[in-house]
Amino acid sequence: MNPVDEVRARIDIVELIGERVPLKKAGRTFKACCPFHQERTPSFVVFPESGSWRCFGACGTGGDAFDFIMRTENLPFRDALEFLARRVGVDLSPATPEAKAQVERSKRLRDAVLAAAEHWHGLLLRAPEAEAARVYLSGRGFGTDIAKSFRLGFAPDSWDATGNHLRAMGFHDDDLLAAGLLRERDGGGHYDYFRNRVVIPIHNVRGEPVGFGARALDADSQPKYLNSPQTPIFDKGRTLFALDRARQTIRDSEEAVVVEGYTDVIRAHAAGFTNVVASLGTALTEHHVALLKRFAKRIVLALDADAAGQAATVRGLDVIREAAAGDVVPVPTARGAVRFASTLEVDLRVAVLPAGKDPDDVIRDDPEGWRSLIAGAAPVLGYLLDALTADLDLNDPSAKQTAAERLIPVIADIPDPIVRSAWMARLADKLRVDERALAARMGQVARARTTRPAPRRFDGPAATGDGAAPAIPVVADSGGIDAQGRHAPHDQTDPGQATATVPPPAAPPDNHATRILGFLLAAPSRLAALNEALRAVDEAVLGSEDFLDPLQGDLFEAVRYAAHGTPPPDAPAEQRLDALPEAHARLADTLRRRAVSGPSAAEPTVVQSLWRLVLRLREGAIVQELEALRFEQTEARLEADADGPEVAPTSVRVRELDQRVYQLTAIKRRLSRLLVSDGAVMGKRDRGFG
Ligand code: UTP
Ligand code: MN
Repeated sequence: MNPVDEVRARIDIVELIGERVPLKKAGRTFKACCPFHQERTPSFVVFPESGSWRCFGACGTGGDAFDFIMRTENLPFRDALEFLARRVGVDLSPATPEAKAQVERSKRLRDAVLAAAEHWHGLLLRAPEAEAARVYLSGRGFGTDIAKSFRLGFAPDSWDATGNHLRAMGFHDDDLLAAGLLRERDGGGHYDYFRNRVVIPIHNVRGEPVGFGARALDADSQPKYLNSPQTPIFDKGRTLFALDRARQTIRDSEEAVVVEGYTDVIRAHAAGFTNVVASLGTALTEHHVALLKRFAKRIVLALDADAAGQAATVRGLDVIREAAAGDVVPVPTARGAVRFASTLEVDLRVAVLPAGKDPDDVIRDDPEGWRSLIAGAAPVLGYLLDALTADLDLNDPSAKQTAAERLIPVIADIPDPIVRSAWMARLADKLRVDERALAARMGQVARARTTRPAPRRFDGPAATGDGAAPAIPVVADSGGIDAQGRHAPHDQTDPGQATATVPPPAAPPDNHATRILGFLLAAPSRLAALNEALRAVDEAVLGSEDFLDPLQGDLFEAVRYAAHGTPPPDAPAEQRLDALPEAHARLADTLRRRAVSGPSAAEPTVVQSLWRLVLRLREGAIVQELEALRFEQTEARLEADADGPEVAPTSVRVRELDQRVYQLTAIKRRLSRLLVSDGAVMGKRDRGFG
């Protein structure tokens, strides 16, 4: 548990605020006159359950214990954290003298790297000996502006000039060695690590220089790029070049573009594409992805057209699987440790560069071409489906087998069973083979990979259907939160197993969404009565957007058409009850059978049950979103922390999240009330407090 969460979990918010503001109990909350603005009727509310507070009056402030202390004590986040940590006995300081020494050493190493960077930068701008480097850079179209912006430098052609300069500044050889600025000489003594190269400082996400990439000035010198070694402050597997300067654009655009080279990044930023970062001559690691995920929803890998590029994509996919494997992470809340289903999925895409060009070339020749290349990036699996079959003649049966052998293991890696089965359907379609044959092969691959027992099957009374998993003809949106109580295999397996095994074909899930569909499929005319009941309490009518599973969404559309008589002539088969394709028909049958297998009830009761199911479905969607938001709030808070105390204490993102949580909580409260009163509050909107 990180200290922020630890502190938040331990704080009693009512006690904390109650010491400063006279609180009065009001149901499950506490109220007071807002301490942050003048008012006579209390509109300041504390929520013990979520550990938060909000003013519903004029000032509209709100947040958690940290926000409260930041405001009342006028402290930056870091100090509020320390203040509260002391109060609840969480130790924020390094535990041992060794740990403390390590922190101090890291600081010295960062200072050394910074000193070297500044020294080399000064040389590049002014020193006569850096003339060749200046010529080289300007020959590539990198002028003084760029050199200054990226703090580019020149490491002189000498065995000891840099070392001597840094020693004169008071740095010791031990630290210079550890920082990757010196190398050990065989016969004893040290020599400069970087010589006669253009040096490109690499910063951590906070903007502190931690290492260098250094380019030779001519084509013959090897290696072309010399990078800092792994050091206590520089971990290539966890650092992305230029993320410090790209993070804001990445967050704003929700998209990060990953390229391979330093110069690709520099060119991109110089041309205004400031969401571009590079891995440092290594494959993208799961740490890189986790890092990017803090800022980006979508990650685009811009890859060479050649085979190396393809290999990198496959590695990239591995990475995504690893990062998503921690599907369920325990995140503490004020009420103790609760398991949160994370929505850490990443929309990973691939943009393939024109043959023989790198991003640097593309952007220099045609910046608009770059823009459309990135905009047109394909989802990585779609890309792989094409790339890994490009050399095969798919009319040839044995080529189909080769393709299946290449792609099934890739698809088997997808943790989400819905997404996975969608891709199986895509593959079957592409190879024009029966999906069941592929599924059998997939089962073998999965069994070969794991010794875990097969996940428990759902065996509720109504699940005696044909047992075949519905195939989904389109890609499930990986960014969405599943409001239907997670999809079937999630419901049916232990969380730990969900990503490790490929479940056998499962019965469709039994949850709010599928029950609603079942009742409606059994008698589509119920929809009108249901919608009327929903309207009566100011709820939106049922729509396909209530169903996150696209297959279920289709069936709902089919019900809607059937309820109105006949579907329009251009309705796809998936949405015509009389013409459903196989997978749809199978699901419809099972759900319908479940609905009619229960005890029969009078029609008004059925409609009332449906009404409740719809409200519960919507409530569930909100709960899921709230959980995800809470997770994000923690992340945003940590980030605001990483920005340091000099930055505005509560980031915009944190405030946005608070706002959204507030909205959702209000809607959820309204739904709960409706459910409790069974609609007796008909039409009365909950307008919240004040
Ligand atoms: P490239 O060889 O594609 O170089 O290496 P580039 O980025 O296009 O560089 P220029 O345009 O010739 O200057 C891509 C990346 O691979 C790493 C570096 O991170 C480089 O930016 N690399 C390459 C090394 O680490 N060492 C090398 O010797 C070569
Ligand atoms: Mn290049």
